[in-house]
Formats: sequence, C-alpha cells, structure tokens
Amino acid sequence: MVKTVIAKAHTNIALVKYWGKKDAQLMLPQNGSISLTLDHFYTETQVTFDNQLTTDQIYFDDQLLPAAKAARITKFLDLIRQQSGQTAPALVKTANHVPTSAGLASSASGFAALAAAGSRAAGMDLSPKALSRLARRGSGSATRSIFGGFAEWYAGHDDATSFAAPLQDPVDWDIQMIAVVLQATKKPISSTDGMARVVATSPYYAAWVKTAQNDLERMRTAILNKDLTAVGTIAETNAMRMHALNLSADPAFNYFTADTLTAIKTVQNLRAQGINCYYTLDAGPNVKIICASADTAAITAALQQDFAADQLIVAKPGPGITIKEV
Ligand code: PMV
Repeated sequence: MVKTVIAKAHTNIALVKYWGKKDAQLMLPQNGSISLTLDHFYTETQVTFDNQLTTDQIYFDDQLLPAAKAARITKFLDLIRQQSGQTAPALVKTANHVPTSAGLASSASGFAALAAAGSRAAGMDLSPKALSRLARRGSGSATRSIFGGFAEWYAGHDDATSFAAPLQDPVDWDIQMIAVVLQATKKPISSTDGMARVVATSPYYAAWVKTAQNDLERMRTAILNKDLTAVGTIAETNAMRMHALNLSADPAFNYFTADTLTAIKTVQNLRAQGINCYYTLDAGPNVKIICASADTAAITAALQQDFAADQLIVAKPGPGITIKEV
C-alpha cells in the first residue's frame, strides 16, 4: 500500500562541535558533541514510495531538483530502501525554513526530517535512537535533530554505538540564541571537505579531540546547573578552537566574513558592558548569540548599529521530531 508520511525536524546549533570524521562512510565523528535544538528553523518533508514512478523525484521548495543536485538525497533513499526492503522510487517534497548553506545547519533538520518521513513511508517503525543513527548517515549534525532541547551525540565506535540522546528536554530555564543572518553566500568549502582537510593536515587536530572531550564534560554540568555563563563560555571557546583548526589547515580556509567579525566585536563590547552574552559559529558566516531573553532588547539594539532588524532572529529551545501519516 502506498503511504505518505510527513515529518518536521528543527535545526540544532552545536555548543560543543562535531568537526571531523573517523569513518566517512558510516559518518562516525572523531568526538562527541552537544547541541541546542531551536524552535525557529525547521524542515518539513513529505515522502511517498510509489511503484508508478520510474526514478526518485525530489522537490525542494516546490522546485524539482535535477539529478546531480539530488544525488545525496537519492543515496540516502537507497540506504532506507536497503534497510527496509522497499524497492519503489520515492516522491519527496521538502520545505526548508532555514537559510540554506549559510551555516545555519539546514542539513541537520533536512536529513532528520528525511530519515523520519522516509523510514516510516518505507514501512519501518524506528525508535528515536534508531532514527538518530539513520539520520547520522545523511549528515552528522542531523543525528542530534531527532531530539528537542539539549541533545548529546555519543561518538561511538561503530554504527550501533554512534547516536544522540536527549540531555535536557524540555528546557525550563531562560536560554535562547539570536541568529545574526549575514549575507547567505555559498560556503568557501563544504563541511564535509573542510573536516576532511583539518583531520588530514591540521597539526592541532589531536589537541582538538582532547579538549573537546573536556568541553563535553563541563558542558553537561553547565546544562544540568542551568548556568548560562558556563554554557556560553564553554561554547564560545569551543567554537573558536574549531575555527582555529580551519586556520591551521593546509591550505588554510575560514568561514568568516567582515560582518562576522563585526558581530563578534559587538558581543565582546556588550559583555564588557556587563551583558551576559556569548557567540558561536558553524560552517558559515552567521553568528549565533547565546543569551537570556531579558537581554534581547539591549543586544538587538547594539547589533542594529551594523545590521538590519530582519537579519536578527531570536530563537528559543525547540522540540524534537514529529511524524504523521497522511
Ligand atoms: O552538518 P554537517 O554534518 O556537515 O556538520 C556540520 C558541523 C558543524 O555544524 C560545524 C558543527 C556541529 O556539530 O553541528
């Protein structure tokens, strides 16, 4: 029987980052990571396996993707077919409420939603842990987007042991992120290629893995204690160390633009004035500011000296995945 399933998954922003694989085929990370799922950015994906189709048809915001651009999604659908025994091609319709390829982790919500809708449409009924393992094969950060609130991805040592789990959900204390959405330029290097390069060439890579381990331990405690200052301080240091790997790769690369540095400077100035806020950055120019809701007005007012109001998006902790059959 042909079944259509819709799943909605929210993005997450890592507070202790994943940056490097130890197995590219299985998508096993070099170190564990911790993230906060956000309410504001999400992907909604609908999947139907249908024998009437001759090939997979992937619609991205109502546009049919050409085969070359759909290759990564088709490969992921092949994995679902292999695991489920489903043989039909799929019709996939995705609506992305995240600026694409700009370091706001659209691949996290994208592959989490595809894993959930695709596996259910193919006849499987996976547990959240199994869904997390499946989403990991599409994009590492998607491993964590199955869950709401704070989630931890355990690095593991094989397919069965590398998955995420909730750390704290719901989040019943005041923590939020203000995303400073900078010009959505195409990345200088994809996260896949960037990671591979730092693992292969940065002389600091072993130190990163070691310090990330320590950051994970301290971050778990900071979240448990609902300690914004500790969460922000650890996240900011961890993010800059990740970007230092990129600067120390051969050849070096970075995701910063002049606007990125302006936003960082604003956060530093605000902090010097006693406002408790911290920044983090991923594989793109955007800056995410970790803060309490009471400081939103002061922080956005300072940012608006350099950025337009519509570049600033306030996001709160968001929910885990939802799946419905239609
Ligand atoms: O989205 P991916 O799996 O290609 O990896 C992105 C990694 C970072 O966003 C930079 C960090 C993280 O842990 O999400």
